Amino acid sequence: MLKVLLASRNAGKLREFAALLPDVTLVPWPSEAPELPETGAFFQDNALQKAEGAAAWWREHGTEAIDGVLADDSGLCVDALWGGPGVLSARFAPDLPTYRDRNRRLLDMLPEGADRTARFVCVLACAPSTGPAFTVGASVEGRLALEPRGEGGFGYDPIFIPEGSDLTFGELPADAKHTLSHRARACAALREKLAILS
Ligand code: IMP
Repeated sequence: MLKVLLASRNAGKLREFAALLPDVTLVPWPSEAPELPETGAFFQDNALQKAEGAAAWWREHGTEAIDGVLADDSGLCVDALWGGPGVLSARFAPDLPTYRDRNRRLLDMLPEGADRTARFVCVLACAPSTGPAFTVGASVEGRLALEPRGEGGFGYDPIFIPEGSDLTFGELPADAKHTLSHRARACAALREKLAILS
């Protein structure tokens, strides 16, 4: 089975990758490893920066052989907010302690009657141990709910309604999110690239 270091400590992402890539052994980013910088202006830059940073750290400190590194840079892009919070999604409203509060803050930024169109974007960077890094990306279109709904998922899931649904990602069962999410679509694109994954 392919063994891949997952360059993330985000528990929500880890849970989703375990479900989306059941045929890959995922090695978690060690607790003693440093935070990986993400200073780029685009999802793709940040995903590559994390994958290459993690691969370099693993070459010096890794405790087992791996086939490569996988990094995810993702976020919620709201048209009425000029695409924000976008690449800054993980750093939006750092003064607020929980996503419950951050979700409310985000919704409060939209004036009544504003366009609520939004999309989740996910770029995966893959740094194989034997070759150059590459990226795949995907998105899911949708709209912002009027208020947070549902306890499932993580992050902005309670305020995002994917196209074709009336329920937020927070209300949909995990299985349903995994059929249409940005991360699920990016994993499907990764499978197309990596012949070793069927
Ligand atoms: P980053 O990729 O580490 O910069 O963080 C991405 C941030 O975007 C996460 O911390 C979440 O706030 C948000 N995000 C990305 N994907 C999802 C998702 O599937 N559901 C909810 N929030 C997400």
